[in-house]
Amino acid sequence: PYPSFQARDLTTTHTMHYITKPPCDPKIMTFGAFHTDHLLEIDWSEKMGWSRPQIVPFKSFSIHPFSACLHYAIECFEGAKAYRGPNNSIRTFRLNCNMYRMKQSAKRLSLPDFDGAELERCIEQLLKVDRDWIPDRQGFSCYIRPTLMATEEALGVRASSRAKLFVALCPVGPYFPSGLKPVRVFCNISTIRSAPGGVGGYKVAGNYAPTVLPLKEVQKIGFHQNLWMLPDGLVQEMGVCNLFFFWKNKQGERELVTPILDGTILPGILRDSILELTRSMGKFKVIEKKLYIQEVVEAIEDGRMIEMFGSGTAVSIQPIEAIGFNDKIYEVQYDSKLNAGELSHELFDILTKIQTGGEEHKWIKSI
Ligand code: COI
Repeated sequence: PYPSFQARDLTTTHTMHYITKPPCDPKIMTFGAFHTDHLLEIDWSEKMGWSRPQIVPFKSFSIHPFSACLHYAIECFEGAKAYRGPNNSIRTFRLNCNMYRMKQSAKRLSLPDFDGAELERCIEQLLKVDRDWIPDRQGFSCYIRPTLMATEEALGVRASSRAKLFVALCPVGPYFPSGLKPVRVFCNISTIRSAPGGVGGYKVAGNYAPTVLPLKEVQKIGFHQNLWMLPDGLVQEMGVCNLFFFWKNKQGERELVTPILDGTILPGILRDSILELTRSMGKFKVIEKKLYIQEVVEAIEDGRMIEMFGSGTAVSIQPIEAIGFNDKIYEVQYDSKLNAGELSHELFDILTKIQTGGEEHKWIKSI
């Protein structure tokens, strides 16, 4: 019902490179602290459909105080990354999957539909314009943040008749200032992130705001993130990541286990990549299933847990060293030289090679 904008109509207004680029230092180039010189902007209205896509000098928006996104979180977003390749090339990683997911999130919020391939082309153009901002140091990348928000200027709770899609870029280092260092996670039994029938399986803004206070609270007691689960112990996610457990089952066979996508869990693109990579290794069973915290702590107590880690675009692979559950702390040894377990380290290396190595790969588009 909504004819999409087209990348061939894209216009670009260049700016002078007036912002000094930050050094690739993890303490300075923290996640989301810097933006590049330009952004992509496309407006939509029920009456007029999509406007011409525009790349414009980075700017703040002036928005009406009644805009629906401000009050009811009618907003969805994506997180993707681009990397430096050989010969000044730019490599995007599975950006088509982000486009697909964003379309699903937009639909769930009654935001306008668009052609994902056209948005991907516009983003590629934006990356080319801001090419010099893409760090070429390992562990660093250019984070891509497409956002679609309801801008109807009325306080009624309903589908918005106006929307704004924008894409901003930021050069980023590791998500956690500690870098690839294992984190301690706390099983939050009093707050849930996402319930059956809710929107946990979509990347919508409203999923994130309620996690901020519980994050502050666990940080006060010495943990880095919450492990989200349902009151019956069904394990879902950790902080802003999907979760993986690498253990020996009771028969002594090695298994990599992750919670199955049941609608309450974000269908992570890195999650999907890890499943495909580990299945193709063929070294152990790879299982998506309903997973309960009791199974996790039992595997730790029995000494069967080999590794635990989270995955996400922003964090990449995040090893976990300890889980706080029911007043107890369950710790898993990791290789202190690698700062990770062997599998998480290997996956991190494989992914880094795919993303920043010079080779062609089906998940990489080189532009
Ligand atoms: C990502 O991993 O890209 C995310 O969107 C997490 C973010 C909310 C920091």
